Amino acid sequence: MEERVLGIGLIGCGNFCGAYLRTLGVKYKNVRFVCCSDLVTERAEKIAQEYNIRACTTEELLADPEVDIVLILTTPGSHYPLSIRALNAGKHVYCEKPMALNVEQANEIVALAESKGLYVGNAPDTFLDGGFQTCRKLIDEGAIGDIIGVTANFVGPGHELWHPHPDFYYEVGGGPILDMAPYFITALVSLVGPIEQMCCYGMKSFEERPIQDHTRKVEVLTNYAGIMKFRNGAIGNINMSFDIWKSMQPRLEIYGTEGVIFAPDPNTLEGDVLLLRAEHYKEELLKLPRFSIVKMLYSPESLKYFEKVDLVIPSPGNERGKGVSDMAEAIVQGRKARAGADISRHVSEALAAFNICSETCAPYVMQSTCEKPEPLY
Ligand SMILES: NC(=O)c1ccc[n+]([C@@H]2O[C@H](COP(=O)([O-])OP(=O)(O)OC[C@H]3O[C@@H](n4cnc5c(N)ncnc54)[C@H](O)[C@@H]3O)[C@@H](O)[C@H]2O)c1
Repeated sequence: MEERVLGIGLIGCGNFCGAYLRTLGVKYKNVRFVCCSDLVTERAEKIAQEYNIRACTTEELLADPEVDIVLILTTPGSHYPLSIRALNAGKHVYCEKPMALNVEQANEIVALAESKGLYVGNAPDTFLDGGFQTCRKLIDEGAIGDIIGVTANFVGPGHELWHPHPDFYYEVGGGPILDMAPYFITALVSLVGPIEQMCCYGMKSFEERPIQDHTRKVEVLTNYAGIMKFRNGAIGNINMSFDIWKSMQPRLEIYGTEGVIFAPDPNTLEGDVLLLRAEHYKEELLKLPRFSIVKMLYSPESLKYFEKVDLVIPSPGNERGKGVSDMAEAIVQGRKARAGADISRHVSEALAAFNICSETCAPYVMQSTCEKPEPLY
């Protein structure tokens, strides 16, 4: 196999770039950082010094012959224009989520990349982690039978309690659907397959948010309840909110005819893979007196019937970079990238659909589809 180390130019040196700088070129050695840029020059200079790379302007970065892949870690509104600029400069692109603000932009990015023979890839890559690959293997092996349902929930009070510059979460491009749903939808598509139809209601519970030293006008919807129908017939619900102080809803669960999988959190990667085998569960329940069965079925005590599944590949925990490294390997090998154009565009359309449904109060039929990415196990 050809050993080639691809150069990365990083655009956007904010709060999250360290997650990539800590792994790419360090753990994933088929790539290396060449240079970085930011609208705020001092941020690029600080990162350049800390990680021993070059700080430059975005124009210089795009013209740099050592840069093969442009890694875009800017705020969401600039993902589309920067992706287009980078592709036009002849560079492969890997971008943080969301890929774009609407379906048209996502389609344009993919079409431009295809016309130029370039790769585009997108965060999240957490579905490549050991926990999700283990869920995938269980599903592929039929451990829970046919998938009939899912639930996906990220419900909390918003990111302004911890993020150093959180305004963008309430600007166009922000909100819980474009910010948090990519983790859940990408994980679900990689496990269950493409989505066929969706419905959703969305609302804005607060017109303004107190953020640090100022008050921020909210430009996006911040509280969503959606429903998805997958191409394989499975149905599922999704709740994404920045408006709810506390909830006990599970992060991600997958229901099959023969059992249930509780998956890790697709954002933080916390949590074990837990498997309930229906046959075993039924056998155990039937050993109980009849009235105790009812009690057990709906009590947290029934969690004791789940087994913790050993991971099929290791999970390093909450890290980023695997998707970029996989894309670099795909470029060299001439194969499809796992966090590549097809799944990114499909997820982008699904995210846009939540907003379209919220406006029209009508179901949305997905136009795009994709294959489940190749597993890593
Ligand atoms: N913060 C997190 O925990 C987190 C987690 C996962 C993903 N993300 C994603 O990563 C991306 C960046 O998030 P962040 O938290 O680092 O935001 P941030 O605001 O801290 O950093 C973004 C940086 O991009 C720069 N920037 C914006 N537009 C630019 C442009 N046109 N050209 C050059 N630089 C530009 C800003 O100056 C800023 O330094 C977002 O898409 C976000 O959804 C963030």
